Amino acid sequence: MAMGDDRDRVRDASDIVDVVGECLALKPKGREFVGLCPFHDDHRPSMCVVPGKQIFHCFSCGAGGDVFTFVQRYHSMEFREALTFLAERAGIELTKRTGRDGGSDEPSQGMSRGDVLAANGLARDFFRTILRHDDHGRAAREVIARRGMSEEMVERFEIGAAPDRNDGLMMLAHGRGIASKDLEAAGLCKQRKSGLGDTFRNRVVFPIHDQIGRVIAFGARRIDEDDIPKYLNSPESSVFDKSATLYGLHQASRAIQRERVAIVTEGYTDVIACHQAGFENVVATLGTALTAGHARTLRRLCETVVLLFDSDEAGAKAADRAVEVFFAQPIDVRIASLADGEGGKDPDEILRMEDGAERFRRAIESGVDLLEFRYARLREKIAGGGIATQQRALEEEVRRLGELGLRRVDPVRRQFVVRRLSEITGLSADGVVRSLRGGGAMRENADAAVESKTQAQGDPLATMIGCALGDPSLLGGAEDWLSRVDAYPSSRMGEIATTMIGLVEAGADASLAGVLGRLETEEASSLAVALYREGERLSQGDDEKRRRLFEDCRRAWTRRRQSEKGGDLIERLRSSRERHATLGANPTALPRAGRGQAR
Ligand code: UTP
Ligand code: MN
Repeated sequence: MAMGDDRDRVRDASDIVDVVGECLALKPKGREFVGLCPFHDDHRPSMCVVPGKQIFHCFSCGAGGDVFTFVQRYHSMEFREALTFLAERAGIELTKRTGRDGGSDEPSQGMSRGDVLAANGLARDFFRTILRHDDHGRAAREVIARRGMSEEMVERFEIGAAPDRNDGLMMLAHGRGIASKDLEAAGLCKQRKSGLGDTFRNRVVFPIHDQIGRVIAFGARRIDEDDIPKYLNSPESSVFDKSATLYGLHQASRAIQRERVAIVTEGYTDVIACHQAGFENVVATLGTALTAGHARTLRRLCETVVLLFDSDEAGAKAADRAVEVFFAQPIDVRIASLADGEGGKDPDEILRMEDGAERFRRAIESGVDLLEFRYARLREKIAGGGIATQQRALEEEVRRLGELGLRRVDPVRRQFVVRRLSEITGLSADGVVRSLRGGGAMRENADAAVESKTQAQGDPLATMIGCALGDPSLLGGAEDWLSRVDAYPSSRMGEIATTMIGLVEAGADASLAGVLGRLETEEASSLAVALYREGERLSQGDDEKRRRLFEDCRRAWTRRRQSEKGGDLIERLRSSRERHATLGANPTALPRAGRGQAR
């Protein structure tokens, strides 16, 4: 089967530590790696990646699986998309797909995400070709030259040019069999009074990439200063969520991880100028304030975000929004401003100056912690007022922070913030808390219990499956119990067991890796990893302990089945004697996996 082969080849060529490491910062811990889990609101690293088994597992939310599961979940991809992505990444050519399952040529009402991405890819290539075109690209090349953008940056950011005509891209797309309505769905052409035409005309085009480098949208700057607007952006689509997208993240994510700091600027050209000047940990929001979505992406890569503004005023205006984000996501936020006497210059302009790089570095270094920044502004405002006035203003500010979300921050972090506030303001910690309460009662966050985690523990059958995932040879002749699907506490566990039987019967690999390769759903993959991890934890990865644990659980499970069925008297007596012998006098104690049983 070609599909299975492809899957195995791609999996073997994709080291899960590398793949996950491209999306979040991983730290080595023993033979594993840990990082913040991207699948829940993680506060300390709960996600571990196990190179030996090529799996990931979050012991907090229970997410888990192999490299495909990770890519599918992290990038919201279908399996086929994930396969293609990983294959390209590893330089593997996939077996050609035949017939119906091609997907792209099926008539459908909406365009799939893959179709939008393909249309965007075509458009990017088109714009890049135009930029190099003698006539059609000349005006754009002049703009680029005037701004001092290097050839290297043009390549790196895949900058292109939209020609000064109505239907350049449309003609090309038609030639490739892409329908106008599909281009329209991707925002690449639109209805005008004169009829359907290209969206981007006579502009320098900046493709907007997702974190893995696929083009999800475009930003395009006018060439003719009379055109409106200055920048034209793609509309939001199934692949483009403006409020969660950071321009330059694909190009910056390595440097952000390395420096543990992300610098957020306001414009496309700022990002490019920074990268050109050697500041590669720089991204930009797309004409909006920083959102919690941006912060969530960034905090998987680094601990600190520096918001860089052209002037103090711009910074002050953004500080309210930034506070909400800072409370919603545990990441340090600093505010930095380039204002330096004359003010009003953006990074792009600064960096073109003689001592630009030095000034830029100074601005970043003099960035101020968000809360301190707010208090500095407040102090300026209330300077000269009496003690009572100052006190009231400070309390008012703390109350405001409460409204902005401090009350919803988890208790540990909130305590930390309260302590910081008390240091900055000189109010006592109690005073801070009292001011906060003024805005309403504090709510505690209760952590939701996680199904797969609880499922993986306690049930003998669950432990047996976990052991068998670690050592499939335990399954020898055990298909009898495996096949009693009705006995499983959940359909997912049933799915795992059925998959194992299928693999054993086919003489294939029924260990965790093999099983993960066949499971259909994310939930089942997560559960399989959780079961496996619990089995390994209890048996400490030791073959002999694992075997004994497996046998103990198997006996316990058989007995449980029999007593559930009622069983005949003699059988019940026999099993009760046996239980007595193994467990001592307490007849209710089941051999709870591990604890003292399988030493
Ligand atoms: P600026 O007007 O400061 O642009 O807008 P800039 O990046 O300095 O552009 P140049 O140097 O004149 O070429 C900052 C950012 O706001 C968004 C863009 O992302 C831009 O980079 N913007 C601005 C828009 O989306 N639309 C607009 O019309 C203007
Ligand atoms: Mn500018």
